[in-house]
Order: sequence, then C-alpha cells, then structure tokens
Amino acid sequence: ASRERARILEMNRAAARFFHECLISPQGKEGLAYFEQRGLSMHTIRSFGLGYAPDGWNHLLGYLQQQGFRPEELAAGALALRGRNGGYYDAFRHRVMFPIIDLRGNVVAFGGRVLDDSKPKYLNSNDTPAFHKSKCLFALNFAKNSGGRSLILCEGYMDAIALHQAGFRNAVATLGTALTPEQVRLMARYAKEVVISYDADKAGQNASQRAIGLLTQAGLAVRVLRIEGGKDPDEFIRTHGADRFRMLLEHSGNHIEYRLASALQKYNVDITEQKAAYLKEAVEILATVESMVERDVYAGKLAETLGVSKENVLADAAALRAKRQ
Ligand code: CTP
Ligand code: MN
Ligand code: MN
Ligand code: MN
Ligand code: MN
Repeated sequence: ASRERARILEMNRAAARFFHECLISPQGKEGLAYFEQRGLSMHTIRSFGLGYAPDGWNHLLGYLQQQGFRPEELAAGALALRGRNGGYYDAFRHRVMFPIIDLRGNVVAFGGRVLDDSKPKYLNSNDTPAFHKSKCLFALNFAKNSGGRSLILCEGYMDAIALHQAGFRNAVATLGTALTPEQVRLMARYAKEVVISYDADKAGQNASQRAIGLLTQAGLAVRVLRIEGGKDPDEFIRTHGADRFRMLLEHSGNHIEYRLASALQKYNVDITEQKAAYLKEAVEILATVESMVERDVYAGKLAETLGVSKENVLADAAALRAKRQ
C-alpha cells in the first residue's frame, strides 16, 4: 500500500506540473485571466502551484501516459474516471486547479473550480490511499512555518490564498467539509490559538459555533473574526484591503464573547420576557467558562449592557455549574 501511495504522489506531482504549465501556456489563458481577475499575482500563482485543467477528455491522461503512468493508476489516484464503456477520462476538465499539499510537501490531491457560475463550483479529488480529505488542511504546509502560534481558519481555497497574499501567512482552510477532529488535532500540533474566519452567511455562522466546540475541546484558545461588509475573507480583502482585515483580526473577540453576541441577536431585550430569556441563555454560556475571573469579566459586561446585577448573573452561572458537576 505504501508503494501505491508513493506512486500516486509521484503521479500527482507530475499532474501538478502539467496543470501549472497549462495555466501559463496559451491554452490556459482563460484560467490565468480568471486568477488575475480574482486579484492573484503571478508570485502567488507560482507559490501555490496553481494550474489549469484543459477542456477535453484526455489531456492529462495523454500526458501522464507519456510519463509512464497507466490509466488504471490515474483512476486509483482520482485523476481519471472510468466510463460505462470501460474507457478512462480526465476527472478535471476546464477548471482552475488548486494542488493540496501535505506537511511533507507532497501533492496529495487537487481541488478544481469552474471559471463561471456553473455547477458544481468546486470539485475535489475523491479520497485515495494518499489522500484523506478529513485529515488535511489547505495551506497548512505554508502556515506551519509562519512563525506565530496562531492560525486563521477559513472555509475556502480562495480565502486562504487571498490571506497569504495579503501577508496573513498563518491562514489555513478546510476543504469544503465540516471541520473534523483530525483537522483540529493537526492544528493543535502547530498552534495554541485558532481564529475562526468563516463566511459571514448563516452556514458560516453555524459552522463557527460547531468549530468553537471542537477547537476548545482540544485545548486551543479560540477567537472568532466576524466578516462585516463582505461575504468571506477573500471578498473582504478585495473590497476593503489588508489593513481593514488586520483590524478585524485584532478586534476579534474570544469565543465566549462571540457566543454571547450571537445569542443576543435572537432577542429584543427591550421586552422584559425576551431580556430574561437572553439572560438565561447567556448564563448557560457563562457556565461553560472554567475560570472564575473570566466569568467575572463577562458577567460584568452583561450586567452593564443589560442593567442587571453582576452578582446575580455570576451566582446563577455558578449554580448551573454546580448542578452539572
Ligand atoms: N466547496 C466544495 N464544493 C462546492 C462548493 C464549495 O468543495 N460545490 C468547498 C471549497 O473548498 C470551497 C469552500 O468549500 O473553497 C468554500 O465554499 P464557498 O464559500 O461556496 O466558496 P468560495 O471559496 O467562497 O468560492 P469562490 O470564492 O471561489 O466563489
Ligand atoms: Mn491511508
Ligand atoms: Mn460558503
Ligand atoms: Mn469566496
Ligand atoms: Mn465563501
């Protein structure tokens, strides 16, 4: 199996080279224009090894066969698919290509994006003996050397790339699946803190709540960056620039503040019953905080904004903790 794995990695490397060469050759001009239109520099394109998979059924197949790889091997590496007639064809066609690189620098898989609004927007390699999607984070190979002990976690390839280009070299992205415990363990090897920077939409907010749970369970400090005035980090940086993103980053609160603020959105606290309901939910969030001094800080803020007694908030939170022991 390790021979099979090594062979797939060798093939992926050749494929990545092929896609990149295509991108910078005349046949890839649409792909290159696409990346340029999305604000990527040639330097970024080269560093991430971005590419273009030509339109057609057997461009990569033909190239890799010349290099000595059999169609069955391409299929085992998720680069080709097998048709009903038994023939093989390229899995990625007319897409811009994102190589997914592991911590040792191996190209383990690819993501491919359409150049327009057609569906599916992204295609990722299926799992192979060399690739387990749930155990990989895009750009962690770069981010692990970024110096700090903090990582920025975002949703998409383009978010991670835009962040790196803007100088945030500690950005990583999940690969379109919900965050997994394996990915969390991987981050915990390189970081003490994770700043969640998911899309601003409802899906991103829900995913953030879930990620907070997984990351804090792993002992990581967690902050949440809210994208205001954009749908995701990539779009935000394109619209407002890197400095504004840095401000969001610096002002991103820890996960307790985030949860208190998101809960608040569900209530109109000018109405007495709703204020009480919010406080009940807020106390439940506070009760998850281990440290008494931390609880004190949040309770103080709550009490101030809602005009209630801090001591009562703290007492309720402590009672709830006691009940849960
Ligand atoms: N994704 C996927 N399949 C899809 C849509 C998304 O695998 N059909 C994954 C990709 O890894 C993508 C990430 O989920 O990067 C985030 O999805 P989304 O927010 O929809 O895409 P963006 O990255 O914002 O895409 P873009 O900016 O290129 O339009
Ligand atoms: Mn395996
Ligand atoms: Mn999204
Ligand atoms: Mn986007
Ligand atoms: Mn997005």
